[in-house]
Amino acid sequence: MGRLKNEKNKKNEKNNEMSSLSRKFALAPMMDWTDRHCRFFHRLLTRRALLYTEMLTTGAVLHGERARLLRFDPAEHPLALQLGGCDPQALATCARIGAEMGFDEINLNAGCPSDRVREGRFGACLMAEPELVGDCVAAMKAAVAIPVTVKCRIGIDNQDPEPALEHFAQSVERAGADALIVHARKAWLEGLSPRENREVPPLDYDRVYRLKRAHPRLPVILNGGVASIEGAITHLAHVDGVMMGRAAYQEPWRLLAVDPLLFGETARFRSPKQAAAALMPYVEREVARGTRLHAITRHLHGLFDAVPGARAFRRHLAGAAGMSHAGAEYLAAGLALVADRDLDSDRELAHIAA
Ligand SMILES: Cc1cc2nc3c(=O)[nH]c(=O)nc-3n(C[C@H](O)[C@H](O)[C@H](O)COP(=O)(O)O)c2cc1C
Repeated sequence: MGRLKNEKNKKNEKNNEMSSLSRKFALAPMMDWTDRHCRFFHRLLTRRALLYTEMLTTGAVLHGERARLLRFDPAEHPLALQLGGCDPQALATCARIGAEMGFDEINLNAGCPSDRVREGRFGACLMAEPELVGDCVAAMKAAVAIPVTVKCRIGIDNQDPEPALEHFAQSVERAGADALIVHARKAWLEGLSPRENREVPPLDYDRVYRLKRAHPRLPVILNGGVASIEGAITHLAHVDGVMMGRAAYQEPWRLLAVDPLLFGETARFRSPKQAAAALMPYVEREVARGTRLHAITRHLHGLFDAVPGARAFRRHLAGAAGMSHAGAEYLAAGLALVADRDLDSDRELAHIAA
C-alpha cells in the first residue's frame, strides 16, 4: 500500500509539475457544459485555471461506460474529477480509479440540489450530514495520494449558515480535505428548481470570508455570481481562490485575462479568434473519429464580445446543430466572418477583465 501510494505520489508530482496546480482560479463543474470538448477549449484560453469535469455519480463510474465517461485529453491538466455519492467505500474506489486515470484532484459534490441527486442522498443534502461527509473524505484520502476536495453551499433549507457551515468545514478539515469550495448561497431543497437554486437564494460572500478567517489552514475557494476577472481579484483579498461558472462558460473570452492578471504570465493567445483557430487540429481529429462538429462548437457561442461579426459567427455556429457531416472547414468559415482583435494592449486587457 505504501509503495503504491508512493508511486501515485510520484505520478501526481509529475502531473503537477506539468500542470502547476493552483487553486487561485478554477472553472466550475457544470453538468452538460464542462464536457471534455469544453475543457479542451477552455484550456486554450488559460493555462493556469484548474478545470473540473461534470459531476459523475459513483454508480456511473462503477457500473457505466467508464472509459467514455472519464475520458480526457492530457492537454486538459490540471483537471479535477467531481464525484457525486455518499458511500465512503464507493467514493474511495472511484477516487482510486480517477487517480489511476491521471486526474489531478478528486472533488466531492455537496452542493447539487436536484431531485435525482437528493433521492440518492447526496449533493446538497449532504450539508445536513457533516460526519458522513467527513467519513467520505477520510475514505478517499486513504485511497489516493492526489488532493481530495469538497464543494458545498453555505447551508440548506432552514439551516443557520453560521453554525451549519462551520460544523461542515470542521468535519471535512478534520478528515483531511485539501480545500473547501463554497457556493456562497443556500440551496433550498423544497420548492426551487436547480436553476432557481443558482439564482434565488441570496449570495452571502461575507459568510465565506468569515469561514476563511476561522480556518486559516484550510484552503477556501469562493464560488457563485463572480462575473468578471476583476471581481475574482476582489475576492482573492479574502479567500484562497475563486471558482467561476456561468460567466466563464457564457463569455469564454474573459478567460484570456486569467493568466496575465492572476498569474502574471502572458496569455496563450493574443485574441479569442487566435485561440479558436488553434482549436482547428482538435476539431479535425475529433470529427475524423465521429464526433459531431456541433458537440465542440456549441461551447464557442459566446467567444466574441463586441467584435464586428460576432453575431454572424453565432448564427453560423447555430447552423452546425442540424448538420451531421460538418467539419473543421465549417468552423473556419465561421471564423472568417469575425474580426480579430488583439488583447495586446493594457486597455484591451482591462476591458476583458472588467
Ligand atoms: C448548467 C450547470 C450545471 C451545473 N452542474 C454542476 C455540477 O455538475 N456539479 C456542481 O458541483 N455544480 C454544478 N453547477 C453549479 C456550478 O458549479 C456553480 O456552483 C454555480 O453555477 C454558481 O457559480 P456561478 O455563479 O459562477 O455560475 C452547475 C451549474 C450550471 C449552470
